[in-house]
Amino acid sequence: MMPSHSIRSQQDHEKLSRQASHKDPLVRKEYWLSLAKEYQWRKFPTQSLEGSFEGGDVRWFSDGHLNITENMLDRHLPLLADHVALHFIPNQEGAERRNITYQELFQSVNRWSKMFQSLDLKANDVVCLYMPHIPELAFAMLACARLGLVHSVVFGGFSAQALRSRIIDAECKLVVTCDGSYRGDKYVDYKNIVDVALTSLSESESESENEIENKILSKVKHVLIHDHTKKPISLVKGRDLLISEELKKIPMDTVVKAVDRKAEDPLFILYTSGSTGKPKGLLHTTGGYMVWAGWTMREVFQLRNDSLFWCTADAGWITGHSYVIYGPLLNGITSVMYEGIPTYPSADRFWKIIEELKVTHFYTAPTAIRGLESLGDEFPKHYAMDSLQVCGSVGEPINLEAWEWLKKWVAKERCPIVDTWWQTETGGIMITNVAGITPEIPTKATLPLPGVQAILLDEKGNQATREGTLCLSHPWPGMARTIYGDHTRYRENYFKAYPGFYFTGDAAECNERGEYRILGRMDDVINVSGHRIGTAEVENVINESHFIVESAVVGAPHDIKGECLWAFAVYQQHEGVSIMKPIQELLIEVNQLLTKQIGAIAKLDRLIMVPQLPKTRSGKIMRRFLRKLSQGEKDLKKLGDVSTLTNPEIIEEISKLI
Ligand code: WTA
Repeated sequence: MMPSHSIRSQQDHEKLSRQASHKDPLVRKEYWLSLAKEYQWRKFPTQSLEGSFEGGDVRWFSDGHLNITENMLDRHLPLLADHVALHFIPNQEGAERRNITYQELFQSVNRWSKMFQSLDLKANDVVCLYMPHIPELAFAMLACARLGLVHSVVFGGFSAQALRSRIIDAECKLVVTCDGSYRGDKYVDYKNIVDVALTSLSESESESENEIENKILSKVKHVLIHDHTKKPISLVKGRDLLISEELKKIPMDTVVKAVDRKAEDPLFILYTSGSTGKPKGLLHTTGGYMVWAGWTMREVFQLRNDSLFWCTADAGWITGHSYVIYGPLLNGITSVMYEGIPTYPSADRFWKIIEELKVTHFYTAPTAIRGLESLGDEFPKHYAMDSLQVCGSVGEPINLEAWEWLKKWVAKERCPIVDTWWQTETGGIMITNVAGITPEIPTKATLPLPGVQAILLDEKGNQATREGTLCLSHPWPGMARTIYGDHTRYRENYFKAYPGFYFTGDAAECNERGEYRILGRMDDVINVSGHRIGTAEVENVINESHFIVESAVVGAPHDIKGECLWAFAVYQQHEGVSIMKPIQELLIEVNQLLTKQIGAIAKLDRLIMVPQLPKTRSGKIMRRFLRKLSQGEKDLKKLGDVSTLTNPEIIEEISKLI
């Protein structure tokens, strides 16, 4: 039977868009409730949307009850018990691959749930998952969801300090990790990083702050460790538990009853960078996220029952949450989980995997494509990849050259490419072409999906015709409901700039046919290799260097990463004399600091020492001018009006230093 609300033609797209955005709220309600009908609810909702978008207080399907894992596992067992749910490809080429069927995944998730149950956790407790991209991460995520625990996955590339601050912010009660793992030939020492993150702090100027933090950390009663590499590790007595030992106590056929969850109960927290220093823990809830992740996955990629979907993102990011774990399993298809990197052991690894597994859908990021493109056509040339049906791009604007390369060498001029725009905050894809159905236009995400109401606004909040700030004028089920522990910040961040609209932070252009091209971030967030990095977060760390008094970080164009980080900084002075250090040495030092405090993804490509930063009379650093300089603008007249600066002459001086 064809599921309702399928997009099989452009007419379907138009019809569903009309229904989902109908001016009669009853038509809209019926539309959304019938999307929800495709899932198994303990109690089916009678409500679809409630609350106020303007106030940032939105609820979806609020009187519905469900457990999302019943929809990802139990529901599929009668027909799909032996169908592969997860296909795991380890980093090491010769290492054993794992085909985990729906029955086996059900079994593992139930045993992991039983293990979590023995740890004295209660519903809505937050569990931090600091793991590589391996099936055990999926077991842990789903065991949390089965028990009504909230998972907070922290990407393995984050440092101990970044991990620590996320554990503290979410007041986690349990940390799940592993001994270690290789990505490419680089070893990540997960267990050690967790140990450092959980170590109590003592000496510091801000004693009382440390005391509060230590108190929160002490609530982490246990660390569960999966022996992934089987390298020897040291255990903290009373706190650390080996998962292999714990599972020995749990029979293979254990079934744990899935906990009843209300649609608006929290499902997970995921941290992302914002324009202020502190990362935001976006909270997604259960019912709306399920409906949005499931439906967008099926329709955008035009899934079939036998689809073999490979999304190369790590589950430490939203793309991995929605399109490696939740979306594929909600749709009962096979998802590929790959532990490694595109170029290890050689630059044809992706293409080999696609051929060997007969991957049908390949979803990746422009930065990965540019990286592979830079190594030459030789690698994909020898692989027919004729199983592929759809390719997808996500995470940043895809430039024409990368798009064409993907089309020629991977899609082989045969498969459609979907350019999917969305965000951690949106839970699932929002603006995209639908594979093989709606027009595909290189470098354009094109049309909002049915139910997504996009609008461009100018600085005054009026509708802009061609180019402007991309906003959303109506709620959608997958939207994050709050920033964990800081609803005020959520409101201010997303609903204050343009009252009545959700502010995306992106600039976009749109033509008369309503097709969008996303131009990139317009706030102080930089997209490096598809990873969001807040300038303030990086500046805070740079300013800790003894040699630097203040800094301004901007995004500069980069052939592979899309954007990279440049910092303009001012030397610290002592009695009027700058304390100098050669720039290359200072860059190394600053990068060490950044790696330690945030992670290697926050490293600078360039450090430029300047006499002063351009500032307004109120003392605000004008990064806009620096951004333009770093983007290669030579004509100072084109930088914009510098008359608001207290030190306009500095611009010329800085331009000579680049
Ligand atoms: C950018 C990733 C252009 C955008 C799912 C957005 C894109 C940010 C695209 C969110 C795309 C994502 N075209 N830009 N197809 N997809 N972006 O939260 O700037 O990691 O605001 O979510 O990535 O990044 P996030």
